[in-house]
Amino acid sequence: MQENKSRGAFSSKLGFVLAAAGSAVGLGNLWKFPYITWENGGGIFVLVYLVCIVLVGFPVMIAEISIGKVSQKDPVGAFKVLDGIKSPFRFVGMLGVFGGFLILSYYSVVAGWSMEYIVRSGADSFRAVPRQEVSTLMQKEEMQDYAKKRIFAMQIQKPQPDNIKEEILLDAGLIQQTTKKDAIYYDQVNEQYSKNLDILPELLKKKKKLAKWQTYFYEQFLKKKDAKTKLAKILLPKYSEQSFIDFISNGKKPLFWHTLFMLITLLIVIGGIQKGIEKASKFIMPILFIIVGFMAINSLMLDKEQEGIRFLLIGMPEKLHGYSILEAMGHAFFTLSLGMGAMLTYGSYMQKHESVVKSAFWVTFLDTVIALAACLMIFPILFVYHLHPESGSIGILFTSLPLELVKLPLGMMMAVIFYILVFLAALTSAISLLEVVVTYLADEMNFSRIKSTLIAALAIYLAGVPSAFSGDFLTMADHFASRFVLPIGGLLIAIYAGYRMDKEILHKEFTDFGISEKVFRFFYFSVRYITPVLVFLVFLTGIIGFGK
Ligand code: PFF
Repeated sequence: MQENKSRGAFSSKLGFVLAAAGSAVGLGNLWKFPYITWENGGGIFVLVYLVCIVLVGFPVMIAEISIGKVSQKDPVGAFKVLDGIKSPFRFVGMLGVFGGFLILSYYSVVAGWSMEYIVRSGADSFRAVPRQEVSTLMQKEEMQDYAKKRIFAMQIQKPQPDNIKEEILLDAGLIQQTTKKDAIYYDQVNEQYSKNLDILPELLKKKKKLAKWQTYFYEQFLKKKDAKTKLAKILLPKYSEQSFIDFISNGKKPLFWHTLFMLITLLIVIGGIQKGIEKASKFIMPILFIIVGFMAINSLMLDKEQEGIRFLLIGMPEKLHGYSILEAMGHAFFTLSLGMGAMLTYGSYMQKHESVVKSAFWVTFLDTVIALAACLMIFPILFVYHLHPESGSIGILFTSLPLELVKLPLGMMMAVIFYILVFLAALTSAISLLEVVVTYLADEMNFSRIKSTLIAALAIYLAGVPSAFSGDFLTMADHFASRFVLPIGGLLIAIYAGYRMDKEILHKEFTDFGISEKVFRFFYFSVRYITPVLVFLVFLTGIIGFGK
């Protein structure tokens, strides 16, 4: 087949690798991987993940890029060219295009959040609650309860008058009422108090006296003259969480950022493969690597005990369960942008003399390195500040993490840099998602690039509006895409490459570029047997766990 000049092409292997790595490295690496690694106990989980990347991710990536490269078509057209115009596999392509459409619609909203947080970090708003807000906040019952809880936890540890200690111990049921109150008695009270300090809250709770003491300490606290300043600090974590929730459900602001982000993505993609995507990737990716490296080193220096590294290497094996393996496997697809034709689309713009296998290797390698570096960047912060990511949400990236980032050396700048990193990583992934739909419109409908880009971007933009207004809708779209669309797409692509595609075409991608027969045999075995079985299992759990 001759090279299709009018479609455009990446100028070099480096151009392709950086663009494809740009697609792979995204929110999946910076947030989702550290988060699931944390949840699954690190250590062995990381190993399981690496095995999934090698056994499944890498082979499927080779298959996807090859299908694109030999067909030089969009995901739907590729199967028509290679498998016949009525090929049932063209539905795999359609599913992929739909997947790109769906994922970008909410991905852009999340990317927009990072832009809001670049601005917020720049305004240095993560150190304390603005003073004028404190009084308004304290009128909310929820905030008052939170403040009471925190103040109680702080104050109970501090020295208290003997009679207060006595009353607390009585309420906790640790001592009995007595009339003989001499020095010996108070010595005992003091001893009891300090001995049971840690379990006091629990005991008071059991006796239903906790609220009483929380209110007591709270009222004492308010009497202090610098109470407001202190409250501004105490309320910070809750305020940060609240203002994030308020922001994402505010609608207007997220919509503004979603609009801006889609516009930036559109402007890059409209420029075409070489002048748009390749140029942007060559500019952005090195910056991204430098930021991740810089921040990881910074975090590691903070972590004197090296708990972060130890967690990554050894961790808590008892937290690993059966489901973890499937989680690792599902994430391998998401993080490498597989299962929906993104790599296939980029592959269709690769030049004939470039090696698929070598490029796939570099993309996989870079994505993995960034995922591990992201852990090294985030874990030390979690350990040093005793944070615990909230389960199931992207929360930590926008609620607790910024509060800790500003405590690092160069605080405010670190927070700004971090959100720029999130933004850039999301941008290069978004570009690839849009490109899947654009290439489909250009190849299948014969639209010009400009027309395809405008139509695709507008449609995706509109589809993203509900996600800009509702976090629940966004989560639903994400679950549907990553648990349903990607695994099915990945399974079918592997089956196509392993059973339907001309073996010789795939074989040539190895032999023509001096890659050993052994590697080919490993690849072929994986797409025929390992991938389908594993992906089928992931898909099943995806369905079982649907809506979880
Ligand atoms: N790989 C991206 C990430 O890790 O955030 C997400 C993604 C991009 C998935 C492009 C699929 C895709 F086609």
